[in-house]
Amino acid sequence: MPENSKPLAAVIMGSKSDWEVMRAASDTFNEFGVVHESRVLSAHRTPELAAEFASTAEARGLEVIIAGAGGAAHLAGVTAAYTTLPVLGVPMESASLKGLDSLLSTVQMPAGVPVGTLAIGKPGARNAALFAIAILANSRPELREKLHRFREEQKQKIRKETLP
Ligand code: RP5
Repeated sequence: MPENSKPLAAVIMGSKSDWEVMRAASDTFNEFGVVHESRVLSAHRTPELAAEFASTAEARGLEVIIAGAGGAAHLAGVTAAYTTLPVLGVPMESASLKGLDSLLSTVQMPAGVPVGTLAIGKPGARNAALFAIAILANSRPELREKLHRFREEQKQKIRKETLP
């Protein structure tokens, strides 16, 4: 695989049912031209696979991992347990507790194994990718430039907004 087509980031999620939300992370990576992989991995339904994925992630060239999960959302924490790569957690909005369960499960990591937790749902998925891009941009000036441009465009768009 040529160097520039090797994934730098991964978007993993506990279930295919999370994709509708987590695609916001993948779409954001595409917008910025960040080569990434997206896959379903569950900390409880496929624990061996999740452990293997996380423990081999660094050797495979990944630099940052986004993990989305809902309910008793331990995917981000389990992933972080097997790697020292930055892991960003996105809590899914659950039907029963509106994502508060997912948020608390993801954010309340005991000291020693960090998970950077974003907002519940789509805004969290989009911001997780923007955060991941900011991390990747530390050693990639072209990505930093794209982030500056993105912020500027966002600012200009809001400046032009008019109310009915
Ligand atoms: C979690 O359980 C997943 O991340 C998902 O948000 C939630 C429900 O999964 P499904 O029952 O829809 O597969 O593991």
